[in-house]
Amino acid sequence: MSHWLIAGASRGIGLELARQLASRGERVTASVRSEAGRAALDAALAPAGRKGRVLVFDTRDEARIRAAAGAVAEPIDALIANAGAYGPQRQSALDMDFDGVLDLFNVNTLGPLRVVQAFLPLIRRGENPRVVMMSSVLGSMALEGTFNVGYRASKAALNKITQCLADDLRPEGIAVVAMHPGWVRTDMGGPDATLSVEESVAGIIRVAESLTLSGTRRYVDFRGNEIDW
Ligand SMILES: NC(=O)c1ccc[n+]([C@@H]2O[C@H](COP(=O)([O-])OP(=O)(O)OC[C@H]3O[C@@H](n4cnc5c(N)ncnc54)[C@H](OP(=O)(O)O)[C@@H]3O)[C@@H](O)[C@H]2O)c1
Repeated sequence: MSHWLIAGASRGIGLELARQLASRGERVTASVRSEAGRAALDAALAPAGRKGRVLVFDTRDEARIRAAAGAVAEPIDALIANAGAYGPQRQSALDMDFDGVLDLFNVNTLGPLRVVQAFLPLIRRGENPRVVMMSSVLGSMALEGTFNVGYRASKAALNKITQCLADDLRPEGIAVVAMHPGWVRTDMGGPDATLSVEESVAGIIRVAESLTLSGTRRYVDFRGNEIDW
């Protein structure tokens, strides 16, 4: 049994991660940022009984994240930095809501790193410690098209952070990857997405479970297939 930390677990992929892991008997600590999210997560963690724990923080708020991390004592074996947003309506290179996209970078690019840094002392004590940064294939520099520049740039920047983090943590034996979950039917992915949240999450867990230091610094999808940075 491993101890997993899921950041951003009130709905969508994060909630399903908490649900599947808890129902398998894993120890799960997961975060929400509102009382509304807590009820859904409590239900998802119910199978874990006393082994499931809810933290409350917004990934833009470093002080709250650090306070939450300070309240956790057990080592963390796997962290999934999942919280993310799609951003404002106007986010093209020709017409951008700059304040909205700046906030998006705060959530999608810096948020995952804030979470990793705050929980690093616990990750360092984990067994086969792993970090999964929830990215998107839309962050790939190889992808063409000019749609959703803000979101894509925020994930491309997250990918760069992921590479640097992987290089910094390799000597400590901590594996770090960027993950594309597929196009998933959640609030963000919408009803036309090709994957159910159950299928995507089962794959993410499989990839995260089999991740070792030899697989660090990779950009992979939920099937473990490598993506061009
Ligand atoms: N769905 C897809 O097709 C798809 C594809 C590629 C990548 N992704 C990535 O996968 C991750 C999860 O996506 P999803 O489809 O599950 O999205 P979702 O259904 O919109 O859920 C987003 C989750 O992130 C949380 N969150 C957003 N901003 C936050 C903040 N500032 N602080 C803390 N939590 C915050 C939300 O909490 P609240 O409920 O409090 O808002 C919610 O739990 C994201 O990083 C997304 O970019 C998704």
